[in-house]
Amino acid sequence: MKTAARLVLSLLACAAATAVLAADPAAAERGRYLVSIAGCNDCHTEGYAQSDGKVPEPQWLTGSAVGFSGPWGVSYPGNLRLVAAMLDEAGWLERVRQGGLPPMPWSSLRAMSESDLLAIYRYLRDLGAAGEPAPQAVAPGQPIATPHFVFVPQPPQPLKTGALAR
Ligand code: HEC
Repeated sequence: MKTAARLVLSLLACAAATAVLAADPAAAERGRYLVSIAGCNDCHTEGYAQSDGKVPEPQWLTGSAVGFSGPWGVSYPGNLRLVAAMLDEAGWLERVRQGGLPPMPWSSLRAMSESDLLAIYRYLRDLGAAGEPAPQAVAPGQPIATPHFVFVPQPPQPLKTGALAR
């Protein structure tokens, strides 16, 4: 009896594993495609934008400790792999719809369909947890302990006519 119960359990476990395997690769592949075309790596993968995307995939989306400073204080692109690893699907949907600070394109995420958002989640889960959590956001006017890009419009700097005349 015990053996039979164990057999049933392991058959069920196999069936569940097969179902997950059968359902996942296509979603994860679509998630990979979506993050590639939506520019998520530009901010959430350190050095990605600066190297025209030449960062190995195992390092993708591990977040960045280089902040974005503006009137909102300083925000840091989170480590999406750690975020996804800590959340189930419902928690992920709640997080991405909640929004937050600039320059994260929150409105783009809100415009995504639920199946696209879940495909990105599936891809992040397949990549797996890696790296360190990004630093906490810094409130306006507080000291900034990390490198950061300054996202503040600068006044125009016209050419000096004297420089041209020479
Ligand atoms: C222009 C830079 C930029 C781009 C592009 C970008 N993000 Fe972000 N993202 C950020 C920043 C900065 C934060 C932190 C915002 C905050 O503190 O509220 C963030 C936060 C997040 C968070 C919350 C992380 C947490 O710790 O809870 C998620 C999820 C996220 N981004 C997903 C994405 C996805 C998916 C894409 C691609 C569609 C993307 N981001 C593109 C800059 C960016």
